[in-house]
Order: sequence, then C-alpha cells, then structure tokens
Amino acid sequence: MPVIEVRDLAKTYGDLEAVRGVSFEVVEGEVFGLLGPNGAGKTTTVEILEGLRTRDRGHVRVLGLDPANAGPKLKQQLGVQLQNVALYPRLRVHEVIGLFGSFYGLRADTDRLVELMGLHDRRNARISELSGGQAQRLSVALAIVNRPHLVFLDEPSTGMDPQARRNLWDIIEGFRADGMTVVLTTHYMEEAERLCDRVAVMDHGHIIALDTPRALVRANFEEDAIEFTSSNGVSVDALRELDAVSNATGQAGSFSIFSSDIPRTMGSLLAFARGQDVPLEGMRVRQATLEDVFLKLTGRTLRD
Ligand SMILES: Nc1ncnc2c1ncn2[C@@H]1O[C@H](COP(=O)(O)OP(=O)(O)OP(=O)(O)O)[C@@H](O)[C@H]1O
Ligand SMILES: [Mg+2]
Repeated sequence: MPVIEVRDLAKTYGDLEAVRGVSFEVVEGEVFGLLGPNGAGKTTTVEILEGLRTRDRGHVRVLGLDPANAGPKLKQQLGVQLQNVALYPRLRVHEVIGLFGSFYGLRADTDRLVELMGLHDRRNARISELSGGQAQRLSVALAIVNRPHLVFLDEPSTGMDPQARRNLWDIIEGFRADGMTVVLTTHYMEEAERLCDRVAVMDHGHIIALDTPRALVRANFEEDAIEFTSSNGVSVDALRELDAVSNATGQAGSFSIFSSDIPRTMGSLLAFARGQDVPLEGMRVRQATLEDVFLKLTGRTLRD
C-alpha cells in the first residue's frame, strides 16, 4: 500500500491556480522529491498532505487517512518541517525541542537531536541568536522529535552553507536507512539527484515529469558530452567526423562533443588529437543533469 496517494489534486488562491490536478504516489521507504522553481506549487501540495491547507478537489490519502479530516490522529504520525517557520525567538534551542516533544506527549531526545543536527554548541542559544542555517537545522530536528515514519521536508537546505548542506544530505540518507519515508521539496537539482529515489518535476502547478533521476535524464538525453578546451584551432567539422558523434559545438576554444558511445568517441578523439598534434585541456565527460531536463521541458532554468 502506498504511504501517500494523490489523484487530481487542485488548489486555487483567488484567480491563481497554484496546483492544477497533480497525481502521484509515494511508497514506503523512499525519498520522494518535488523539484521545481519558485511558485511551482510544491509547498501548497505538501501542506495539503500535512493537513495544514485545504484542497479544492482531488483524492488524497496519507497513511491511509484523509488529511482534510483526520485531525491529530494523522499529525501525531507525521514529521513536518515547514518552509517558513516562526519559532519563539526568546526561547532557547533545547527549550523549543522540549516544547515540541511535549506537543506529542513525549520527552524529546534533545541530546540526540542537537548532536545529529550539529547544534550541540548552540543548545543554550536563544532562537533569535541563531544564524539562518542553524535555525533551518533546528527546524529539521523539530520535524523528527516524534520519531515519525513519514517526514516532510520543505526546502530543508535553504540558507545552509555547503558543508551544512552535505551534512543534511547524510542525515536524510540516514533517515532512509532507518526505514523512514521522506517527501522533500527542493529547487536544488543536485539535492534531488543525490537524495531522491524518485522525483516529480513541478512547474506552474503541474507535474511535468516523474521518475528516478537517472530515468528522467535518460528519457530526455540519450547522449553524454565530452568537453575540453584547446588553444590550437580545432575544426568543429573534424570533430563531427569522429566515431559515434551525433553533434559537436565549439566556441572560443571550448568544445563539446555529443555521443551515445563515449568510449568509442573518446578513442577516436585521442587518435585525432595525436595525429593532428592538438592539445586537449581540461577534458571531462559531462552527463546531462536534472537541470538540463528542466531546461529542455520548460525552456527555463530552475532558478529563473
Ligand atoms: N496563502 C496563499 N495565498 C495566495 N497565494 C498563495 C498562497 N500560498 C501560495 N500562493 C501562491 O501560489 C503559488 C504556489 O506557491 P507555493 O508556495 O506552493 O510554491 P512553491 O513551489 O513552494 O514555491 P517556492 O519554491 O518559492 O517555495 C505561488 O504563485 C504563490 O504566490
Ligand atoms: Mg515552497
């Protein structure tokens, strides 16, 4: 049985159709991503699943319950990290964790949570004294205070520095290893690619593609690219003649060769370079990313 079922979900705010009939399922134990640019409808979708917003139409079941009328019975079982959370600025970190535990009628495991989120040295700090990234880490800790089996993380790494973001990724992988189901919204394609078993790509209230990151890339790009720079004049036409090449481009000494058989193309490129005495600098193979997929499907980048 899926942990989450959504069919034809829609929500409008006045004239604005924020979510326009989306359908998906989330199965137990997966990290499911909603990837899309600002305003795509991600928060609206997850907050309907969390029982925090009402829907206009559609069928929704979360852990077998309808969040519109399940009340506390469902909320007790969920972990929720909100995109915009106002915590009590005068309280201290450990007090807020304790308070959130009490909402669930349990004693929070504060030591474990501050350790896990790298907040042990901020344990006695007031909320108002936390940096944006630290507050964000606290909000992830609060989402798991009740040891949920299903946790929603809405843009969890926003405002984090690269190190904190990597730590967060490890923590989310730990959630999966513990058997938790995670629904994650993000507009960082690296985050979706690294963490998500499956990704729904959202744009203007629609899901425009849904699959594993790898399958999404392969469905849209059959080829990888060999890229290099060269100070000697290299003819793009000559590159197009190499084995298994479907196309080649060159601009200001930077070249890209597209191929569905990289080893073959690489072999003939190296032979060509040796024969013509062409230096190849900074050579690398680039695979298409979810960012490229989004660009191809919408004509825009994720962060426009
Ligand atoms: N409470 C609200 N009242 C009116 N409009 C809203 C409300 N919440 C969201 N919207 C609008 O609905 C659309 C979708 O917003 P939503 O917050 O769901 O997007 P998102 O994908 O989470 O975006 P972001 O990446 O910026 O968080 C946006 O155009 C937003 O302005
Ligand atoms: Mg949002």
